[in-house]
Amino acid sequence: MEQLAVLGAGYVGLVTAACLAELGHRVTCIEVDGRRLMALKAGQLPIYERGLPELIWGNAQRGRLFFSDDFGEIADADAIFVAVPTPSGENGEADISFVRQAVYSLIPHAKRGVLLIIKSTVPVGTADRISQLPPVLKAGIEVVSNPEFLRQGTAVRDFLQPERVVIGAESAQAVERVARIYASLEASIVSVDRRSAELAKYTANALLATRISFINEISHIATAVNADIDDVARIVGMDRRIGPAFLRSGLGWGGSCFPKDVLALTSAAARYGCHTPILRAVYEINELQREHAAQLLIDALHGIDDPIVAVLGVAFKPNTDDVRGSPALTIAERLLGNGVTVRIHDPFALVNASDVLARIDCRPDPYSALEGADALLLATEWEEYETLDWTLVRETMRGKTVVDGRNVLNGGHLTELGFRYRSFGRPEHKLNGNGTHHNINGSIPGVAGEGVE
Ligand code: UDX
Repeated sequence: MEQLAVLGAGYVGLVTAACLAELGHRVTCIEVDGRRLMALKAGQLPIYERGLPELIWGNAQRGRLFFSDDFGEIADADAIFVAVPTPSGENGEADISFVRQAVYSLIPHAKRGVLLIIKSTVPVGTADRISQLPPVLKAGIEVVSNPEFLRQGTAVRDFLQPERVVIGAESAQAVERVARIYASLEASIVSVDRRSAELAKYTANALLATRISFINEISHIATAVNADIDDVARIVGMDRRIGPAFLRSGLGWGGSCFPKDVLALTSAAARYGCHTPILRAVYEINELQREHAAQLLIDALHGIDDPIVAVLGVAFKPNTDDVRGSPALTIAERLLGNGVTVRIHDPFALVNASDVLARIDCRPDPYSALEGADALLLATEWEEYETLDWTLVRETMRGKTVVDGRNVLNGGHLTELGFRYRSFGRPEHKLNGNGTHHNINGSIPGVAGEGVE
């Protein structure tokens, strides 16, 4: 058992703290936001994440997990994880002011020779620069980069069953110390220099975003030639060199990581004089997907007085209440700007959505959102929408347009029921009884395995 501290009780910090405690360590999680800390102490989690409450309260009860705003509580820690946010700053560059602040706050309290482990996604060179700060050198603090690859919705599992644990360190001793913390996990340890670890994190997210933007670009070609993007993705995904994940076309990527990391990598590259046309296109295509969806809806509403659109799902993906970077909200905003009434439903993200977009009409169940609606946009493929009674939906809605923002509905069936089904690269011939689109729970063979869990 090691004495550990985690700075920051956001997504990454909370999951890290809870999972490290679950591995048997004694963990103090420092959170400086008074309201968030009070809520945590009162037993309320600031985020929705499957499996996390059980881990947090279980380990808190066992006396292995503590929350505090007092940096004095980290005095016994052998290693301190920095898991504070690095939001998009000017020109898209990652703003590392929270990291800097965290480092300066901990120095006066930390043990001599403590290991400082950077989990936050930081620009390449950040860990090197921190290690050279005079107070860090003076306190004999060793700085390590240990990027986190967890996905919201499956964060606990991703932490406890990682595909790799990356340790970016400049000494074998530091690698060994970090590896010891993770010793009870069955994971490949990849030991590299700090800069490579930092760049690998950005590259992983940018590459995943690239796959999605790429398949979205191809989906427009599929529409133009009346081919089936699901089949195309399945066929290319069967090539082991390509693999099936992250090839589902639709509204594109959102969340707190992909948008900020693609932007941060692009602007960091520019600073080093590197030409990055791919990264720029990846971002642009993603913006265009949202624009395209909004336009589909606006076209469908042409000539209707006081049009109403129901948006099902506002979380940026299922199994999270996070609306950061959510395509649904961008599209809703665009519709509102065009005089459309927008009603939204989401099983978990309504509160967060109304915080961002006050003018939005939040509905407690999908049918109430759909009542009298002229068009429906399925923006997040929540499991709950699998069991929608489409005959009832048809009777409930005023209009008949369904825009399937995640290519998960059974387009053939919807067409039979009289809906006007719109998708992202699924062909019309399959809407006319010549084939079926897979339905939401049928998962697209070879393209499942991510996001639709
Ligand atoms: C991502 C990375 O996967 C994770 O490793 C990193 O640590 C943080 O960023 P997350 O933001 O939780 O995780 O979401 P992820 O599951 O990767 O999905 C990102 C976005 O891509 C979602 O908006 C999702 O809807 C979209 N997506 C995913 C697609 O549009 N098509 C796909 O085929 C897959």
